[in-house]
Amino acid sequence: MPAVGRAIMAKILVCVAWPYASGPRHLGHACSTFIPADVFARYHRMRGDEVLMVGGSDMHGTPTTVRADEEGVTPKEVADRFHALHTKNIEQLGVRYDLYWNTAAEDHKKWVQDIFLSLRDQGNVYEATMTSPYCTTGNHFLPDRYVEGKCPNCGFERARGDQCDNCGHLWDPFELVDPHCRIHGTPPVPRETKHFFFRLSAFEEPLKKWMASGKERWRNHVVTFTQSWLREGLRDRPVTRDLDWGIEVPVPGYETKRIYVWFEAVMGYLTATKEWFKLHGKPEGWKDFWYDPEAKHVYFVGKDNIVFHTIMWPAILMAYDPKLDLPADVPATQYLNISSERMSTGHGHGVWLSDLLERFDPDQIRYYATVTMPEAKDTDFTWEDFAQRNNSELLAVYGNFVHRALTFADKNFAHEVPPAGFLDAADKAMVRAIEDQWKKVGQNLEYIHFKDAIKEAIQLARLGNQYFDQKAPWDLVRKDRAACGTVLHVSLRVARSLALVLAPFLPFSSQRLWNALGYDTDIHAQRWEEALEDVPAGQRLRVGKPLFAKIELEAAGPAAPDAGFDVRIARILEVKDHPNADKLYVLTVDYGAGTRDIVSGIKNDYAPDQLRGRTIAYLLNLQPARLRGVESRGMLLAGEDEKVVGLVLPPDDAKVGTQILGVAGAPELPFAEFQKYKLRVGEEGRVYFLGKAEEVRIPLKAGDAYLKVDKGLKEGTWVH
Ligand code: MF3
Ligand code: ZN
Repeated sequence: MPAVGRAIMAKILVCVAWPYASGPRHLGHACSTFIPADVFARYHRMRGDEVLMVGGSDMHGTPTTVRADEEGVTPKEVADRFHALHTKNIEQLGVRYDLYWNTAAEDHKKWVQDIFLSLRDQGNVYEATMTSPYCTTGNHFLPDRYVEGKCPNCGFERARGDQCDNCGHLWDPFELVDPHCRIHGTPPVPRETKHFFFRLSAFEEPLKKWMASGKERWRNHVVTFTQSWLREGLRDRPVTRDLDWGIEVPVPGYETKRIYVWFEAVMGYLTATKEWFKLHGKPEGWKDFWYDPEAKHVYFVGKDNIVFHTIMWPAILMAYDPKLDLPADVPATQYLNISSERMSTGHGHGVWLSDLLERFDPDQIRYYATVTMPEAKDTDFTWEDFAQRNNSELLAVYGNFVHRALTFADKNFAHEVPPAGFLDAADKAMVRAIEDQWKKVGQNLEYIHFKDAIKEAIQLARLGNQYFDQKAPWDLVRKDRAACGTVLHVSLRVARSLALVLAPFLPFSSQRLWNALGYDTDIHAQRWEEALEDVPAGQRLRVGKPLFAKIELEAAGPAAPDAGFDVRIARILEVKDHPNADKLYVLTVDYGAGTRDIVSGIKNDYAPDQLRGRTIAYLLNLQPARLRGVESRGMLLAGEDEKVVGLVLPPDDAKVGTQILGVAGAPELPFAEFQKYKLRVGEEGRVYFLGKAEEVRIPLKAGDAYLKVDKGLKEGTWVH
């Protein structure tokens, strides 16, 4: 076998982070979990390795119950709905799990409880009393996401009781600054409650030892992050919660508690392996994958999941049975930033997978996800980039090359692959490039470098185009038909190799190309080495449409800088005092298409009579927030200096509902995102919208009239 070859077949368990069944997943999830895992698994299947790819939906915990509370439905309804959506999206995306399961399955629950009891019997899970945050307004404990507060590490305002979504740090709820109940907005009190703890501290040394060897190929940021955790020292962690949604704690007295979602979800890798073998009539077969020191377990996860896979789960495995295989690699990605600034409605409804899948070929999504994969650093998603990379690389280089070769051969050589005659130096160089590029793609895939791998594959198509241009078969066909046949033959051979080396990345278009080249077989049943084989002369071509369609974003050019906003003229209908706060009003506003309540801190500056009936500038698409227990939706725009607050006021005759900034239906904007933009008072009290870097300046207007700030606020005053 050539250079990259490994003579021995390997056993590879491809572990994919379990997406919460608490909401739709966006492109970032696909980039960090589904797609890399699938590319990796498909490649190794082609290599002839014994691959098992497992995962499923993470059904439990507060992510699901929080949404259920908000919607007024049961957690089961939420979890079932999103499990069905994830299952569908994964299938549409061509991500081929051997088992896509879910953590509400009976077998999973049973096996988790067994592991739990076994850990308890060994003393690695023990009972202790702790103080937990308790909300006296609603009389309930506040597990995980029910507490919010400021992150002491990065300052993020809406950190959760168990983890900060911004910096990934894990917290105990009382470590947050100003913790409060997510439902009632009031600060929790500490209350004693009994829980089970996992003796994580006992595994600090074994984990340090484990991390100290054989991690040379791991991604830098994964190692650094894990090491810094170990340096800080490990504390025991509570692994049950005061919650009624989740896996029951199999111990009397724990009827009102559940196993912590993270503690059981990671066990899913093991239980799903067991389940797969059980379903295939070999209930003991999982042991081949988990007790074989040669088996490689690779975990595809996002940045915020690292510690659970490099610390918690390995520790649980060490505790449960030291003979079990630990992760061979955890090639976590960094973040894919999806800035709402670019998410205009013209361009789509956000970067939700289900929306993308409705609008684009799954291979276009997979292509972009791979070339933009945040392997080493955070990366920005933009629609322009999405369209551009697809159009100028996937379509213009790869799609174009194979289409030229196929249609030219089809037209001039009686719908067949022409025979190759004498190969000159250029022909030979092209054939050699197949093997060179094939090796580079394989090498990169072995090292889990997906971006480089796909780049080398596209490079083969680029070389193909150069070869085709240099040989100019459109001239040759008249001058030297045999030589022209050779060029087409070599080009189709390159196309054939491309179909195979791209098969792990772009399964659908590879299959289409395979068929167009005249093959009836399933390309995914082919071996990786077959990419080096020749295409048989005389094989009948079946040329169809080009492989890819051009991506046209509805609005040409970059999205307007304010496209992420939806600011309209609204009228204040009602003014009430906030039930729990002296300085706040609850205003009911009519924004043309409905009415909404907003909580506003302008009580010192405006009496109710000055507000009732008044038209204002209203930001509609702000993420709803609870302020002191009252839900606030959207906000009114006002300028503020050290002394006064002055509303941004539309002209007297402005019509309620008039769009004054952004576009109707812009996706919901988190407050932190809104804060990155600046609105400022300009000359004559006019109000301007400034881009993030203040490079744009858009006046707020209703028709031809400018909106102006009240109370004579001076030029330069900030508006928010
Ligand atoms: N549900 C988690 C998330 O979406 C990931 C869980 S991975 C598992 O962030 F291993 F714990 F299952
Ligand atoms: Zn509460």
